[in-house]
Amino acid sequence: MPLTPRPLHRLFAAELGGIDLRVVPDDDTVAGVVAAMDKYAVGVVRHDTPPTDEQHIAFSLKLGPVEDRPVLAMAGVAPDRVRIPRYEIVDQSNLDETGSIFGDDDRRLAFKRANRLWHTDISFHPVRATYSLLAAHALPPDSPPTEFADMRAAWDALSDPMKARIDGLEAEHSYWYSRVAGGGPPATAEEIASRPPARHPLVHVRGGRRGLYLASHASGIVGWPADEGRALLDELLAFATRPEFVYAHDWRLGDVVIWDNLATMHRARPFDDRRHVRDVRRTTCREVRPGAATAIPGF
Ligand code: OGA
Ligand code: MN
Repeated sequence: MPLTPRPLHRLFAAELGGIDLRVVPDDDTVAGVVAAMDKYAVGVVRHDTPPTDEQHIAFSLKLGPVEDRPVLAMAGVAPDRVRIPRYEIVDQSNLDETGSIFGDDDRRLAFKRANRLWHTDISFHPVRATYSLLAAHALPPDSPPTEFADMRAAWDALSDPMKARIDGLEAEHSYWYSRVAGGGPPATAEEIASRPPARHPLVHVRGGRRGLYLASHASGIVGWPADEGRALLDELLAFATRPEFVYAHDWRLGDVVIWDNLATMHRARPFDDRRHVRDVRRTTCREVRPGAATAIPGF
């Protein structure tokens, strides 16, 4: 069946008809998905039942190398304390390794809530993420949407003086910065050492278009005084997430949403995560295999 994108927003985001994440795609299908993602940056694939973890991983591997090791260490949380015993799957649910809703004092829940800040996945790593694929396995009542912002449209809409001011700048991104900004506890020295900050250009080209590469993980501008860097990032984050640049995805069970981390930002929205189960699972494709690309210990 041919891939048929149906636009969901004036600027970006489309429902991708004619594909099924539960089937390993042939080369033509992969090329079609990449072309659709270059154009729309967010692709929604509906299924009556979600792909299994194995199917989810197998499809993702066709779109690029998939992270298959934990990207950081969290204090007091042994790496094998996971509900889903596949490191390719990032468990974005509010469930602990026994399948129960996280306790109030669980560090993982506090850190997870930082997903409610606008971000792009893994910008705190030297090897950036390309596509994320998030599958809905269980949704709470009054399921919150996930919101996406188009970073190419945001760039296009910036004033010429602002474009000139920021082109060529680099931002520093730290996982721990966004966790604390999101209301989480301060990171321990061990946590910070497990995932030191990374630097990336603030403006880049993706899918043939220029766009901003911004995230809540961005703590400052390289070479700038901290307060000036923070002020610029805050201004750009506010501009890039204005309502006209945002698509809100209302989830249905079985949906897989694919987004391009190099062309968008996204954020989770709040729900009663101490009462209701929300089981969503992510794979994350990378620009290159992390192990092959960096000399950082453990990667
Ligand atoms: C993610 C993420 C948002 C959500 O999986 O990377 O930010 O709504 N998810 O769960
Ligand atoms: Mn995310």
